[in-house]
Amino acid sequence: MCLSYHLIEDFTIVNIMRQSCSRSHFSGVAAPRQTFLVTVADSSNGATEVLAVEWATPLSVRPPLFGISISPNKHTSQMIRSAGVFTVNVPSTDILKQTVWAGTHTGRQHKDKITAAGLTSQRSGWNVNAVSIGEAVASFECKVVNEIPVGNHVLFIGEVMSVDASDELFDRQRGSWHTEKIRSILRVAYDTYTTTNRETLSLN
Ligand SMILES: Cc1cc2nc3c(=O)[nH]c(=O)nc-3n(C[C@H](O)[C@H](O)[C@H](O)COP(=O)(O)O)c2cc1C
Repeated sequence: MCLSYHLIEDFTIVNIMRQSCSRSHFSGVAAPRQTFLVTVADSSNGATEVLAVEWATPLSVRPPLFGISISPNKHTSQMIRSAGVFTVNVPSTDILKQTVWAGTHTGRQHKDKITAAGLTSQRSGWNVNAVSIGEAVASFECKVVNEIPVGNHVLFIGEVMSVDASDELFDRQRGSWHTEKIRSILRVAYDTYTTTNRETLSLN
């Protein structure tokens, strides 16, 4: 189903009653957010790492840059720092359980964390430490070009080197998802998730 958006003059403007919330609620107010699986490998010892990341965003088109915000003491941060690469994988709700597992267990206790999460590693031809998730509906590989401390997190900025996406779910002509098919994982709060549905709002 595709709902057409009416011109702005057709809307009745309604004043929303708002109340002051705790400052710490800014993150919940800025939700739901798309959740990704970030992966990296250490080819010298066969270790793989995967963690769930929702604080992530595109940053630039030319060059194509993507940022992920991770606690500096996370095992993944150390792996990304030494590998100099990371891969951003797009999970669908088909692998929600595995995604939450990756977001609640540390790679310090699982040398091959991708397998431990019940997921499959796919090696990249581009870099020995780049690895993606076979069950993801898309992934893009990034070379770390900057690392910026941001409060209690570190923003890793990666230049996108290559992108793969499902033929069935991603429209290559338009460069966008078929929203009636993909079911992205969107995090609402600590243990609450939602997903994309069939409704698309189009401006024409
Ligand atoms: C849905 C979800 C989203 C998350 N997003 C982030 C995030 O954006 N940044 C972060 O540092 N941790 C995030 N986490 C927590 C990490 O994924 C989690 O601490 C993980 O176990 C770290 O793995 P590691 O110790 O192997 O690095 C998230 C967890 C979940 C479940």
